[in-house]
Amino acid sequence: MNVAIDGPAGAGKSTIAKRLAKELGYVYVDTGAMYRAMALYFLEQGIDASKEEEISAVVDGIDISIRYQEGEQQVFLNGENVNGKIRREEVGNMASATSVYPDVRKKLVALQQKLASDTDVIMDGRDIGTCVLPDAEVKIYLTASSATRAKRRYDELQAKGESCDLEAIRLDIEERDERDMNRETSPLKQAEDALLLDSSDKTIEEVVEIIQKICQDRQKESKML
Ligand code: DC
Repeated sequence: MNVAIDGPAGAGKSTIAKRLAKELGYVYVDTGAMYRAMALYFLEQGIDASKEEEISAVVDGIDISIRYQEGEQQVFLNGENVNGKIRREEVGNMASATSVYPDVRKKLVALQQKLASDTDVIMDGRDIGTCVLPDAEVKIYLTASSATRAKRRYDELQAKGESCDLEAIRLDIEERDERDMNRETSPLKQAEDALLLDSSDKTIEEVVEIIQKICQDRQKESKML
């Protein structure tokens, strides 16, 4: 059984998917981390996000792979573990800007589909239910208002002792939504058969519980067939 969780930045997808994977004994696949690893390569090579031809010319030569250490996904870029480098805002924005290109998506979608064919996964991203795993048994579209998402991000940064501006974070989130939802190739949208879940007024535990119940019901149904 595969579980697809899509939704905009900051909706809580990864926190929730990680917890669910633990509860259900599935492998968690964070697809955003793969787009971020590729974006890191473009940043390190000084390749401009607007240069599609230049990006397409190098994509085939970039090696992105995934390994698991103590249950945690580790992303390798050309053999180097880049988990510690890909969480910066700059990398997230570059990932959003370069994930619009079909050549970038083709390569990473193939890797994601390969991972899901080997084992049961909970995969999160933007196009999992619509493109990567169209036959996933459970599909969730997890969202929250941009104000809620910005406040969560602000609290996270504050807790790390980083200075930040709530309004700037909100604008950044809205800009990213705009790009992810309106690109031509595999834009972020709710799959027709996905359940819409708004986490604005819910705790992480409540959301995990709702999705866990859906997964368990689906498992029971498939055993009865
Ligand atoms: O989930 P994230 O913030 O780590 O993702 C970073 C960017 O990568 C996101 O803004 C858009 C892109 N992305 C994508 O296009 N498709 C996915 N399945 C996952 C991420």
